[in-house]
Amino acid sequence: IDNGFANTSACDSAITFLDGELGILRYRGIPIEELAEKSNFLETSFLLIHGRLPAQDELEKFEREIKANYRLPQKMDRIFDVLPKATHPMAILSAVTSALSGAYADELDPANPDFVQKNIYRLMGHFPTIAASAFRSARGESVPDPRNEIDYCANFMHLMFSDRKNKDVPKEVVEALHLLLILHADHEQNCSTSTVRLVGSSAANLYSSVSAGVQALWGPLHGGANQAVMEMLEEIHRAGGNVNKAVADAKDKNSSFRLMGFGHRVYKNFDPRAAIIKKACDKVLAKLGIQDPLLDIAKRLEEAALKDSYFVEKKLYPNVDFYSGIIYSALKIPVNMFTVMFALGRLPG
Ligand code: ACO
Repeated sequence: IDNGFANTSACDSAITFLDGELGILRYRGIPIEELAEKSNFLETSFLLIHGRLPAQDELEKFEREIKANYRLPQKMDRIFDVLPKATHPMAILSAVTSALSGAYADELDPANPDFVQKNIYRLMGHFPTIAASAFRSARGESVPDPRNEIDYCANFMHLMFSDRKNKDVPKEVVEALHLLLILHADHEQNCSTSTVRLVGSSAANLYSSVSAGVQALWGPLHGGANQAVMEMLEEIHRAGGNVNKAVADAKDKNSSFRLMGFGHRVYKNFDPRAAIIKKACDKVLAKLGIQDPLLDIAKRLEEAALKDSYFVEKKLYPNVDFYSGIIYSALKIPVNMFTVMFALGRLPG
């Protein structure tokens, strides 16, 4: 028995390298810090999928193909109307992704590389539309027409928030979104990626495999942690901002409370993505002129935990999701959409 497959490898992979002791993360050999600084989400997606950075014309074609798939297949927008209003957007994302297999029923064979390529473009193009539709449908709204002339992340914000007057999304918002999606784009054989591989190993089609991966990502110990972090920070804020009490509760073995956004299966010194996000958090909030008391609580909580022997001995550090929710909130993305944002980022991986 190897609980959690901590010592069992399911495959050899050249996609992502990470060293949990040293806090190193590389996509296809390129350090995450370099991609976070210089790349954008679609270029990083190409890198993950094809194994190398694209030439300019390759990137343009990649973008064109994805943008050509922003619109969902005919009549699929009706699904959003029939689901109960309380349906979590992750359930909607998974259900609609699975249903796409019906729309492309003649081109599903995962052994056919042309079909696989088409289905990659379709998924990358449809995901932002499904995500924004899930958000809008809960408000009784439909998504506006996509805008192909703007960039992928800008179009997503347009689909989410535009009042149909085609106002431009601030540059800072688009840049922050690219950064967050890049940081979430791949992470070895984690729970959701392993789920996609496991389902795919039965020769199930890409839509059903990705749909299962979305379900696996939903849990609070995995992708759902970003939502859980914000709920925890809000709770601490409501109760007067006492971070030491939260640290004490997290150590109490009679309580099931854990510091959400702390600890990682692999990183035992620091999560390099958390370091990048923490810096970005300050920058984005300053640029947007937002003062979020939750950022202050998060920083004080981190400081208190990192001084505490329980957290030090167990090597528990902030992970990627400790600060990501604060940026998402600054971008006006509601808490129940955070894990969907993670899924959007993780899709190319
Ligand atoms: N708060 C308090 N104690 C913790 C925490 C935490 N966040 N994380 C781990 N511990 C303690 C455990 O209680 C356990 O203590 P014990 O040895 O006395 O029993 C010890 O540290 C080891 O914990 P495990 O759960 O065995 O560690 P594992 O490496 O398997 O789990 C995990 C990693 C699931 C991420 C865990 O740290 C956790 O639950 N964190 C909070 C949820 C979270 O932030 N998840 C996001 C992960 S990143 C991502 O998926 C993108």
